[in-house]
Amino acid sequence: MKRYITLLAALMLTLSLSGCEKEVAPVIQPEVETEQTTSAVTTIPDGPVGLVPSTEGTTASAETTLPQETTAETIETTSETTTADEYTNGDITVKNGITYIRGVIIVNKTYSLPSDYNPGVDKTAEDAFKKMQSAAASEGLNIYISSGFRSFDYQAGLYKRYADRDGKAAADRYSARAGHSEHQTGLAFDLNSIDDSFANTAEGKWVAENCYKYGFIIRYPKGKEDVTGYMYEPWHIRYLGDDLAKEVYESGKTLEEFFEIKSEYVE
Ligand code: DAL
Ligand code: ZN
Repeated sequence: MKRYITLLAALMLTLSLSGCEKEVAPVIQPEVETEQTTSAVTTIPDGPVGLVPSTEGTTASAETTLPQETTAETIETTSETTTADEYTNGDITVKNGITYIRGVIIVNKTYSLPSDYNPGVDKTAEDAFKKMQSAAASEGLNIYISSGFRSFDYQAGLYKRYADRDGKAAADRYSARAGHSEHQTGLAFDLNSIDDSFANTAEGKWVAENCYKYGFIIRYPKGKEDVTGYMYEPWHIRYLGDDLAKEVYESGKTLEEFFEIKSEYVE
């Protein structure tokens, strides 16, 4: 009897172990998901996550047609032929660490520039400014650039100075961290006195009403800090080109609202 009970127990143990193996098996399954994660879906440092490679080439030119949204099917067929430095997701393209929407460089707290991106002042933006300056002068107004292109390193020093003086949290409300300033694009200019009082001067009012006609927008409007990430800066204009600047101006939206993007540091 004792021998029979021992044999029965051994049989039950064998059955129970083989049952366990079957339950464990599915855990090995997600091999396909791992493959997709490493080959087709890539994380861009300091930028949007989950962007997929694109096959079409883009340049920084405003005239460039951007690749359209990549479907799951094209991901599989194109991931091997795409260069590692270019990704597209919907309207957003990231090339060489620089983010573009509709061919326009996007820089804010979410989207940054590489430290070696050092284009100097943009010639088209500078010419547009000169045109605007002449138009203002013909009405007896004096507008001038008080801060134009700023390199990554220059911005790093500037931000550090403000953070040392006012603390990081306060500095983050009015000064961009290195790599996050539009001034590094060469497409942004601070005009006249960098002070809220500029908004109430004849020049400040004229710029607010007319800069879109020359391809610029007031980038950080009043009451939009939660959207743009920065306090009101009536002096900071950003060149977008005539058509887009007009569209954004007429929409009454900030650039973040217009493109439906965020401006938040990852920390
Ligand atoms: N003052 C703006 C946000 C900058 O530092 O670029
Ligand atoms: Zn500025």
